[in-house]
Amino acid sequence: MAGRDHTFYVSATPGLGGLLAQEAEACLGLEVTRVTGGVEFTARLESLWQAALSLRLANRILVRLASFKAENFDKLERRIAEIPWELWLPTDADPEVVVTTHHCRLYHTDAVAQRVKGVVDQALPGGEGRVPQKIYLRGEDDRFTLSLDAAGEPLYKRGVKTHGGRAPIRETLASAILTMAGYTGDAPLADPMCGAGTFSLEAAMRATRTPPGLFRRFAFEQWPSFREKGFAHMKREAEKAISDVSAPVIFASDLDQGAVDRLGATLAELPFGKAVGLRASDFFSLDPASVSSVPGVVVFNPPYGKRIKGGNDAFVQRLLDHLAAHWGGWTAALAVPKQQVPRPMPRGFHGHPMSHGGLDLTVIIGRLP
Ligand SMILES: C[S@@+](CC[C@H](N)C(=O)[O-])C[C@H]1O[C@@H](n2cnc3c(N)ncnc32)[C@H](O)[C@@H]1O
Repeated sequence: MAGRDHTFYVSATPGLGGLLAQEAEACLGLEVTRVTGGVEFTARLESLWQAALSLRLANRILVRLASFKAENFDKLERRIAEIPWELWLPTDADPEVVVTTHHCRLYHTDAVAQRVKGVVDQALPGGEGRVPQKIYLRGEDDRFTLSLDAAGEPLYKRGVKTHGGRAPIRETLASAILTMAGYTGDAPLADPMCGAGTFSLEAAMRATRTPPGLFRRFAFEQWPSFREKGFAHMKREAEKAISDVSAPVIFASDLDQGAVDRLGATLAELPFGKAVGLRASDFFSLDPASVSSVPGVVVFNPPYGKRIKGGNDAFVQRLLDHLAAHWGGWTAALAVPKQQVPRPMPRGFHGHPMSHGGLDLTVIIGRLP
């Protein structure tokens, strides 16, 4: 397993495949191929560990194990049995098989999943399965692709947020919005409707060069091919590159004192927490000069407001008017539901469509004159 190349698939939030491809190439130093829903690359297992540790925009990472035609259960079971399961998974793995099919003779997804699980269970005689492991089988026109979930919990779960909030944005999406706004961790960042602080936490990890996967575990750590020492070395090297930011370069605020207190408690437990300054404030009375003497990036996923004449969301419109009047020179990025994109778009702004939990969103971005 360790000495061979494998093919990995990294999934992206719909609309973010291009950005993920750029991130993966820069971070892994490999060529990646854009495919439906994400990117693929071929490399040794170390690149999988690196991807899981470092990619900020990836949702899941799968290892492609096999691709085959199967028109009936016999053939399916034979192909699944050919896979060297004992080399891939611990003997006490508890496989959960997720099947999707399109134009396949084997269309009954529950029955297919049951057959696959039966074969894998037989190949791994470890007794009661205790280590959860997702296996994906995707069928199209009787051709199936079988993949292992290498990350476990989706990668947007960084393991740093100890307190949730109302309608938090997903970490991967927040990070993508920071990228789109040109935020590399060097300019000041304002998150003036911070809620649970997703933008601020993602920005603080960038500003301190902290890898997003440093605080969690991955499914591949349970695999027989995993080399604990090798991964520990990789993490130590990444930790050496972390910069100590002791004064705030990120400014989080919210109207809701409870949200501010909860984010304060989260930050107090994190090594990069000092990079974030926090206060309770109404955005509409926040003086940008008190946030930073030089303009930077200001980000929002505002609460949904009421529609006003012309279809615009009154809150978003008020926010944009306020930004135009008081935040000159800053780059603003707002994630709003597609149907609430302001019409006309403010001058100098453009929209970037994406999807978030089944909701069509548009990120509107522009530099305020
Ligand atoms: C959708 S949530 C933001 C979620 C946040 N980005 C996160 O990841 O958790 C909207 C936030 O805007 C805050 N808010 C609403 N009106 C505000 C205002 N006028 N000034 C500051 N914050 C406001 C709410 O308290 C809420 O926390």
